[in-house]
Amino acid sequence: MVTNLEIAGAMTVKLDPALPEMPDFMPGIRRAPDRGFRLTRAQAKIALKNALRYVPESLHEELAPEFLNELLTRGRIYAYRYRPPGRIYAKPIDQYKSKCIAGKAFQVMIDNNLDFEVALYPYELVTYGETGSVCQNWLQYRLIKKYLEALTEEQTLVVMSGHPLGLFPSRPEAPRVIITNGLMVGLYDNQDDWEIAAQMGVASYGQMTAGGWMYIGPQGIVHGTFNTLLNAGRLKLQIPAGGDLEGRLFVSSGLGGMSGAQAKAVEIAGGVGVIAEVDGSRIQTRLNQGWVSRATADPAEAFRLAGEALQQKKPLSIAYHGNVVDLLEYIVSRELRVDLLSDQTSCHAPYDGGYCPQGLTFAERTRLLAEDRAAFRKLVDRSLRRHFELIKILVDRGSYFFDYGNSFMKAVFDAGVKEISKNGRDEKDGFIWPSYVEDIMGPELFDYGYGPFRWVCLSGKPEDLAKTDRAAMSCIDPDRRSQDRDNYIWVRDAQKHDLVVGSQARILYQDAAGRVRIALKFNEMVRRGEIGPVMIGRDHHDVSGTDSPFRETANIKDGSNVMADMAAQCYAGNAARGMNLVALHNGGGVGIGKAVNGGFGLVLDGSGRVDETIKSALLWDVTCGVARRAWARNENSLSTGIEFNSEYEGTGQITLPYLVKDELIDTVTGPLL
Ligand SMILES: NC(=O)c1ccc[n+]([C@@H]2O[C@H](COP(=O)([O-])OP(=O)(O)OC[C@H]3O[C@@H](n4cnc5c(N)ncnc54)[C@H](O)[C@@H]3O)[C@@H](O)[C@H]2O)c1
Repeated sequence: MVTNLEIAGAMTVKLDPALPEMPDFMPGIRRAPDRGFRLTRAQAKIALKNALRYVPESLHEELAPEFLNELLTRGRIYAYRYRPPGRIYAKPIDQYKSKCIAGKAFQVMIDNNLDFEVALYPYELVTYGETGSVCQNWLQYRLIKKYLEALTEEQTLVVMSGHPLGLFPSRPEAPRVIITNGLMVGLYDNQDDWEIAAQMGVASYGQMTAGGWMYIGPQGIVHGTFNTLLNAGRLKLQIPAGGDLEGRLFVSSGLGGMSGAQAKAVEIAGGVGVIAEVDGSRIQTRLNQGWVSRATADPAEAFRLAGEALQQKKPLSIAYHGNVVDLLEYIVSRELRVDLLSDQTSCHAPYDGGYCPQGLTFAERTRLLAEDRAAFRKLVDRSLRRHFELIKILVDRGSYFFDYGNSFMKAVFDAGVKEISKNGRDEKDGFIWPSYVEDIMGPELFDYGYGPFRWVCLSGKPEDLAKTDRAAMSCIDPDRRSQDRDNYIWVRDAQKHDLVVGSQARILYQDAAGRVRIALKFNEMVRRGEIGPVMIGRDHHDVSGTDSPFRETANIKDGSNVMADMAAQCYAGNAARGMNLVALHNGGGVGIGKAVNGGFGLVLDGSGRVDETIKSALLWDVTCGVARRAWARNENSLSTGIEFNSEYEGTGQITLPYLVKDELIDTVTGPLL
């Protein structure tokens, strides 16, 4: 029988044998709700053993009851005691220890994801999206940091659902870190089984950039929301190309991690927004950051302010402190005109607290969630049904409603509204209203390869960010396409809009060629010593990397929207081409079993090797998705594919589909089907 002494002796990288002091919880920091203990006795025993296997036997007696208490009262073992005391934030890269630059860089990224200013529930390691976590608990956090400190150019750290499996010999060209989160065997790939696995300490919900360590605060989504709103206006409100949302009203909900971008984005797009939010603390955060301009708990006041701004054609964002369903009741009863309508509550996890039902305050929601989940579920369903009815009325009156990637329509369907599905039976044919990807982002951006490219100046210096902004601008030709003009204006004005929360980061939608050009330019600047090292990456919400039929791949119409081949290929291809970090997750954005998504990280260190990685890996990362979209006969990606084949003739080629005439298919199938 192997002894604990032998086990301790067999590891050099391990947690210290000393018991850390229990840290104080800072008042005013948002805390995750109790996730509801639901393990059997046998499972709970395994969960305890699972948590205790990170620490030496000498600590087991003391920690076992403490961990059990966490499991029973919070529905998870977070091992709070192991949270390092004080503030966690993205420090300048040279303040971190490691044997390689990527090892330091990933510590910057992880710490940014856990910053009180950035993260949704920092004590519970949740970065955004109600449940999106860096890893499961503070034991894993500490161990991951130790491994990153020890990491060399000849090793790869493997992280499975937050658990650092170990350091494995590899090569400098291989990824330094490979992450997977929440991947489940098909039979168990559902929320209920995942919940049990999470409580047992073997599954983590990485969302996208939370568990992929690439979150850059709500700025990450402002650019996407800005693009979506602008293009929605141009497509549906007859605003000419180049025009903005002046004099137009947008109504939505959510001022949380990602949804917090809506208010800022509508102002940048020149429009007026009223955004409902039930949690006062999140409104306060956005007010403090200047991401929302006004706040009121009185709908009449909200619409008085909105009306004035609309009349004066001035941009304005207003937070309505209350439930979005109540806000819509007010709009419907007063017959107010709404141009663009959406929702960004965390409907990917409505029964876990992501959606606050009508009739409950935020505090009541948290209490009921802990006390009676079945009753909570009933209220959520009732509220979603009413929410649906109100949107239907507004759509009939001329509002353009779009699902904004939070699985809202799926949640309404699951609440019993079959009418929201196109075939009135199941979700296979989609829903009656478009998702923003179907109507806007898919055809206008993804099909051309435009997606949320991002970078972080690891020196932590605002001057470096300003230099990279200018350099990125010089790589864009604003006269090429309207998308390029929007992107050029975005990065030109980015500093003015004061978008940085946490690390010195920028998001900039770019196509494949643009991303390569910009990354090469930055790497050259690092080489010349003009700026410190830069981390490049992207949101998983992109052209490729993510198979998500209710979101990113909602405009894939050849039947392959139920497949996850693209996400897996993108991830493997990025690893093969030398990205420093590759991540693959279950469920990001829409919930377990509903998506597979992946992303990457690459540290620009000024080296020639990184130049080569940029040229092959960044190109692959985007083109994989364009090729798949082209094969699905998406018109704009067909033209992007033709351009690619001409540019890369002899070195690369996308298989393009021959187009089949509908009349022929109708004639052939007519007598038989
Ligand atoms: N479209 C995109 O590009 C995109 C990107 C990221 C995330 N998302 C999705 O958007 C959703 C929100 O993400 P997030 O990170 O902001 O999550 P979050 O949980 O931080 O924020 C959601 C907010 O909605 C509020 N809320 C819940 N129910 C409400 C109600 N009935 N009325 C008013 N406010 C209510 C919550 O208090 C919370 O602040 C998630 O489902 C996420 O997956 C979409």
